[in-house]
Amino acid sequence: MRVLGIETSCDETGIALVEGEGRATPRLLAQALHSQVEMHADYGGVVPELASRDHIRRVLPLTREVLHAAGAGLDSIDVVAYTRGPGLAGALLVGAGVASSLAAALGKPALGVHHLEGHLLSPFLSADPPEFPFVALLVSGGHTQLLEVRDVGAYTLLGDTIDDAAGEAFDKSAKLLGLGYPGGPALARLAEFGDAEAYALPRPLLQRDSLDFSFAGLKTAVRTHALKLEGANCEQPRADLAASTQEAIVDVLVRKTMSAMEHTGLHRLVVAGGVGANALLRARLRSECATRQSRVYFPELALCTDNGAMIALAAAMRLSRGIAALSSDYAFDVLPRWPLTVIAPLVAKAG
Ligand code: KG4
Ligand code: ZN
Repeated sequence: MRVLGIETSCDETGIALVEGEGRATPRLLAQALHSQVEMHADYGGVVPELASRDHIRRVLPLTREVLHAAGAGLDSIDVVAYTRGPGLAGALLVGAGVASSLAAALGKPALGVHHLEGHLLSPFLSADPPEFPFVALLVSGGHTQLLEVRDVGAYTLLGDTIDDAAGEAFDKSAKLLGLGYPGGPALARLAEFGDAEAYALPRPLLQRDSLDFSFAGLKTAVRTHALKLEGANCEQPRADLAASTQEAIVDVLVRKTMSAMEHTGLHRLVVAGGVGANALLRARLRSECATRQSRVYFPELALCTDNGAMIALAAAMRLSRGIAALSSDYAFDVLPRWPLTVIAPLVAKAG
């Protein structure tokens, strides 16, 4: 079974073709990605209308590129999967519209996929995939969640952010330090030259029993310090503040994640979402898991941030488990706000 995946939820147009047989983990045949980062950089963040228009320009050429790279024809596609949410409404509509029309033209089913389920399952495309059950740390621009994952579609929320997401904390702090968009990678680069103990920054909710996160207080503290650095020749203090900020975010993520592992008694951890690309977070989680006879699984670096492969993969894994029922029309909708834990078996549309 071949599934074409179309991801357009934010500022990346991602297309991919995967092939799956029964319950075996699907294989990635080809993928292509266009990042809009440069286009939005001038504005310091994603401009939704520009994002939608660019997805329209990219989605078909990238689909052709993927089919060409896979040596596959349109007629070899069995299902067209797309990101149904969460994300920017206009951007989501581009992928949903193109996927549903393509599926209708081919007479094949279309299937709406949850973006975070894509992130969550993305490590299954790596050379050394995990097994169920596991604890998942989902850390993206919009989400910071700890989940107990028993199987595809069987998710229990253990902890969530009560204000900013971890990616947002990186992005907003980076902005306060005068760094460009997207802030996470830029802040991580500057942090390499800084002393992570130079600034004592808050680690909210760390003392409490709960597995929830809060990053708003950290942002306020970074603002206060950043304002003091403005103007003067402050290269080293800026690097120190970047390093201390990264340290605070990573410290909270790692400690809460270890509490979640203890709480569930599970020994496998999956880390997914854009912040999962952070080198310090990866190193800390690896060493903490090693001391607990646990293993941590990451998606390939290229699959940490948004991509089409994870959407095709999530669709294929649902289809192989029979939790993506077919229906009979090509009407589609998008769900800009869509909690992961309420996803019922997804509905596919067939002609
Ligand atoms: O998962 P993703 O690509 O998009 C969303 O679904 O949100 O995550 C994007 C987030 C951004 O906040 C970005 O700054 C952050 O991931 N990010 C990083 C790194 N690479 C991406 N944060 C810290 N360190 C990185 N190396
Ligand atoms: Zn994402």
